[in-house]
Amino acid sequence: MVETPFTSIVAGLPATIPFVGPEAIERRRGRRFELRLGANESLFGVSPLVADAIAGEIARAGWYGDPEAFDLRTKVASSLGGIGIDRLVMGAGIDELLGVLVRLVTEPGDPVVTSAGAYPTFNYHVAGFGGRLVAVPYRNDQEDLDALADAVRREGAKLVYLSNPDNPMGSWHDASAIEAFVQALPEKTLVILDEAYAEFAPTSALPPLAFTDPRLVRLRTFSKAHGLAGLRVGYAMADPSVIQGIGKIRNHFGVNRFAQAAAIAALDDPGFTDEVVVEVERGRADYARLANDCGVEPLPSATNFVTIDVGGFERARAILQALEAEAVFIRMPGVTPLNRCIRVTVGPAADRARFAEIFERVTQRV
Ligand SMILES: Cc1ncc(COP(=O)(O)O)c(C=O)c1O
Repeated sequence: MVETPFTSIVAGLPATIPFVGPEAIERRRGRRFELRLGANESLFGVSPLVADAIAGEIARAGWYGDPEAFDLRTKVASSLGGIGIDRLVMGAGIDELLGVLVRLVTEPGDPVVTSAGAYPTFNYHVAGFGGRLVAVPYRNDQEDLDALADAVRREGAKLVYLSNPDNPMGSWHDASAIEAFVQALPEKTLVILDEAYAEFAPTSALPPLAFTDPRLVRLRTFSKAHGLAGLRVGYAMADPSVIQGIGKIRNHFGVNRFAQAAAIAALDDPGFTDEVVVEVERGRADYARLANDCGVEPLPSATNFVTIDVGGFERARAILQALEAEAVFIRMPGVTPLNRCIRVTVGPAADRARFAEIFERVTQRV
């Protein structure tokens, strides 16, 4: 038998992936999900302008996309109030950019700081580039900024990850706390501020775009409020020197033509996105009422999902499994004490009503 000459890093990795997709669960169960509420995707479709843009691009499917994504970066820059396009780089979603950022600064064995139970795709990239993950616990269901900063200093870490608002808890910090966190970091530390849920957050949670710091990389995506998760497009905002560094190693054709055209069209229809955000707010309130009615505790959320404390890991897992048996896909956090909760994506009113019906039944039984 031929043995593949894996690098020592790859050879040492467990055969693990960050997520088991809903499709894999469907294949295992031999049945499709009726409600897909586990991946914080948008369940609100896309703007008609986006649909037209995608259809229009079919004629050019044979061409590579613009590797500089110039038109899209220009559009993003103007939608953000005129930041320089030299501060922007696009990627195939935040997930790809996380990998590029880890690779940018991590040598094998380097410490990298995150929170225990935070977004697992980041950890996956750290492992893949041979970094040593240092994870600090959440405090009161929030990422603990003081503990993250302490760990950075103690370990001499060059990279720290923080998501605001946070997945999986839905919690958030005020912009002032985030700014103070960045400014207190050692000069040579890069902080990844993952703002995947920015559109759903109160503006008080988002540092102004005028707040720039060479240590700060902010990540945004078209996967959530704009409904383009399947097309894979997101961006990093950072100091031009960081963007130049990323340019040395990124996948230049990673953001395909359809993704670029669709993202531009999405920004041409801010009214559509605003409606999604308003409906998600309504949905969060619906879920909060539902949870209270069922005797479990909804956590405050600044995202497109609601995390619900059901009282313990065993019950959370049992509820997840019972929902799965009812063809409802949800997820739950992976570590203690967060795993006393389940996490449910907010969908349109009809989906919420159907979920409520099933959830009431399931929580009475489990
Ligand atoms: C915190 C966080 N970051 C990034 C992502 C993925 O974003 P993208 O689809 O742009 O890769 C998610 C998706 O669930 C997320 O929760």
